[in-house]
Amino acid sequence: MKKIIIFVSLIFVFSCTNNNEEDFFGTECDTNDVYYITSDESRSVFNIITNKCIGCHGQDNSLGIVSLATYQDLISVNNLLDVINLDINNPSAMPPAGMPQLTDCEKSQLTSWVNNGYLYDEAQR
Ligand code: HEC
Repeated sequence: MKKIIIFVSLIFVFSCTNNNEEDFFGTECDTNDVYYITSDESRSVFNIITNKCIGCHGQDNSLGIVSLATYQDLISVNNLLDVINLDINNPSAMPPAGMPQLTDCEKSQLTSWVNNGYLYDEAQR
């Protein structure tokens, strides 16, 4: 009986140590230090926009879609947080349905970035 208990305990311990923290607590999301430019791509607004928006919102867009290509362009948009939080079925939702969507973390980071005053460059802190 003792052996069985030890065996079961070992399996339990192994199955725990075999997982990393993220499986238990969800992917870590740093919403405190979000910058437009930072060497840490996991909290860079430029990175999010480049990955999820710039395909349609580039500069010199012949389709006449608003540019989000520069810092100035991005902070000039006054409804950024509105459109990224719309229901996917809303025609104004960004990114539009069918396109790669923002993760919950990316939404939180954009929200915190706007609310913290559009911090530009971490290196210039
Ligand atoms: C598949 C193309 C596409 C993608 C990807 C896309 N958008 Fe758009 N977006 C549009 C179109 C089309 C419009 C409507 C035309 C306009 O208002 O400029 C629009 C409108 C907007 C507007 C409203 C502009 C205004 O003047 O009211 C904002 C803000 C916006 N998008 C932000 C984003 C953000 C942020 C992302 C990435 C997270 C994104 N979009 C991804 C195509 C796209």
